Amino acid sequence: MASPALTMSALLLDTSKHTATVQTTPIPTPGPGELLIRVHAVALNPVDALYSFKPLGSSGRVVGSDFAGTVVSSSPSSNVASSESAFSPGDRVSGFLQGACSVNDRPGAFADYLVCPADLVWCVPDSMSFEEASTISLCGLTAAQALFQRLGLVAPWDSITKPTSQAREIYALIYGASTSVGLYAAQLLHLSAKHSNTTVHLLGTASPARFDLLRAAPYSYEHVISYRDADWPSQIRRLTLDSRGVDIALDCISQNSTVGQVSSTLRDGGKLAVLRSRAAGAWDASLVPAHIDPLYDAVWRGLGERVQYHSMILEANAEMRQFSRDFFGWLSSKDGVRLQANPVRRMPGGLEKVVGDGFMLIGEGDAVKQAEGRKEEWMRPISGEKLVYSLVQ
Ligand SMILES: NC(=O)c1ccc[n+]([C@@H]2O[C@H](COP(=O)([O-])OP(=O)(O)OC[C@H]3O[C@@H](n4cnc5c(N)ncnc54)[C@H](OP(=O)(O)O)[C@@H]3O)[C@@H](O)[C@H]2O)c1
Repeated sequence: MASPALTMSALLLDTSKHTATVQTTPIPTPGPGELLIRVHAVALNPVDALYSFKPLGSSGRVVGSDFAGTVVSSSPSSNVASSESAFSPGDRVSGFLQGACSVNDRPGAFADYLVCPADLVWCVPDSMSFEEASTISLCGLTAAQALFQRLGLVAPWDSITKPTSQAREIYALIYGASTSVGLYAAQLLHLSAKHSNTTVHLLGTASPARFDLLRAAPYSYEHVISYRDADWPSQIRRLTLDSRGVDIALDCISQNSTVGQVSSTLRDGGKLAVLRSRAAGAWDASLVPAHIDPLYDAVWRGLGERVQYHSMILEANAEMRQFSRDFFGWLSSKDGVRLQANPVRRMPGGLEKVVGDGFMLIGEGDAVKQAEGRKEEWMRPISGEKLVYSLVQ
């Protein structure tokens, strides 16, 4: 494979203007145990827009998290026992970085090339496009952390121990079933149930326009309720055994009154995972009964490195990194596609269109208002889809 040029285009944070702009910058050099990757597709997450418009840390850093691409080169690990890279040039891989969603200097993904630790990518099956693959890493890992680390379900890659191999039946609620995280959570929940001899009754909330999608495989909801119905929590309770409530719930929105409402659907002793922290004040903690502890974590902890994020410092955590490795190792299976990618909305243009189009759609406040005034077909509101840009045509 020919050596790449020395410079590349990248979307760089501009803190003075509260935005990001495409600029020419040096191609990064992989450190020990890292891969240099040619980026073919990037998927957008709300945090990418949020921390471009409300920046943390310094200018000039590459923004963006989710990517898929091909390995250009690898740098041997400093660990003698594993100094051979498992990857070869041309291998198709996917992963996520933190980019400018941090206070400290972290690598980002929205660029022609990036560097990433070799243990934090997964091998993309031949049947999956780069665009599809780019949607999976961050939201798939977020869903996996919530279900298997916080809510205590058995991961499909875990070896089964005796107590969990006994048949059981659970009721589960995913609030915000059509979100990117929710679409992966439903799939992982079914795979976990199959793996652990569990019958799962999956209940969800979404807009009625998404009901057909959610009732079909691989999401296979038993019932989906509109979250715009004022009495949706009692509708959910009535769908559970003797109206006792759900055993586990994942709130994929975790905003304003949602955590309180989702809490009200839990059975006694039921567990709830949330995606936004109580400390950030995104949801109204006064609506949550004192005996319920909404379990939060940030997906960035899966990177296993010390990260300054928001008002928090996430300390390096080898266990969290091992969980990410296990998840990515499972995704890399040669047995075929493990998780069906989110439906992709392939956005026109490349990096130069990310802020003006994509971030307008997934941003908050003024950005969304501006997007509402746009008439192009690709600027319609997002529902059950992931925005993706192709960087290699
Ligand atoms: N903890 C973490 O590390 C972590 C990781 C990833 C994401 N997150 C956070 O999790 C949230 C979801 O992220 P995502 O990327 O999965 O979202 P997304 O795909 O952008 O979500 C879009 C969907 O949200 C639904 N929605 C919007 N407002 C809603 C409301 N009030 N009630 C119910 N549904 C609503 C809409 O559903 P309908 O079309 O059906 O109306 C829409 O389809 C974001 O706040 C994100 O920042 C946290």
